[in-house]
Amino acid sequence: MKITKAVIPAAGLGTRVLPATKSMPKEMIPIVDKPAIQYIVEEAVNSGITDILIITNRGKGVIEDHFDHSMSLEDVLKRNGKNEMLKSIENIHKLANIHYIRQIETKGLGHAVLKAKTFIGNEPFAVMYGDDVIIGDIPATKQLIDAYDDFGKGVLGIKKVDQKDIYKYSSLKVDHIHDNIYKCTDMIEKPKTDDAVLSLFSILGRCVLPPEIFEILEHTDPDSTNELQLTDAMKKIANTYGMTAVEYTGKRYDMGNKLGILQANIEVGLKHKETKDGLRDYIKELAQNLQ
Ligand code: UTP
Repeated sequence: MKITKAVIPAAGLGTRVLPATKSMPKEMIPIVDKPAIQYIVEEAVNSGITDILIITNRGKGVIEDHFDHSMSLEDVLKRNGKNEMLKSIENIHKLANIHYIRQIETKGLGHAVLKAKTFIGNEPFAVMYGDDVIIGDIPATKQLIDAYDDFGKGVLGIKKVDQKDIYKYSSLKVDHIHDNIYKCTDMIEKPKTDDAVLSLFSILGRCVLPPEIFEILEHTDPDSTNELQLTDAMKKIANTYGMTAVEYTGKRYDMGNKLGILQANIEVGLKHKETKDGLRDYIKELAQNLQ
């Protein structure tokens, strides 16, 4: 079945980026001149997705405004002959059919995804974490959808993380199939001890799930922090049917933490036509005096 729907959970509190996220959603933090969530919507569209559900919450209304048609702003830019600027905004509202639902209570990623049950119905769908921007030649979500087409199982977007960081992420049991494709049969969210670590592969930012995930989520208990973890529900699928894992190509930027935001802005800024020359000169000069 062709995958045309994606869910973008964007209802988290963003506490790691406070105070910036006190009144602004972290998904709206820009990389140079574009908010993180626009990169994600563009990746979805470039992966063949036509319908997107963004899971929001209180204070996230600016996300809806961003994907709305801003006629008055377009009129001003048109009148003033600001054609380049006009070009940068006039197609945003046409990118995809974007729908919104509020999570209301912030009870974890699994709880957020469960809000998409009616929207998704009985189809496989992509989940694109709202604070993970992935930039590369082939859209990461497309790589996962291709693996779904090949293997017919749920797909996890994975990358290796440093040993010291695995305790903050999920850890997966995987067997190599070929190239960057693995079979995943088990996983654990935030392993607490060395023995609990299954590998340094972790799910980072993207997955493709079968619709059965909703019933499983409905019967999964929240964790000790009272959050419903998506990993705990996916583990049940991995344990029974197995899942496919794709070590996707492309660079992932974690827009949910301060260093990730800075790295994204520097690396994208070094490629952006308006900023690359000035930023390169600036970094070179700065680096000469760095200890
Ligand atoms: P995170 O755990 O990174 O988001 O979830 P967070 O809770 O905002 O992070 P802190 O507060 O800095 O630790 C990954 C994605 O899932 C969404 C977040 O918005 C983020 O895009 N999410 C998380 C929800 O939509 N609902 C939730 O209850 C939790």
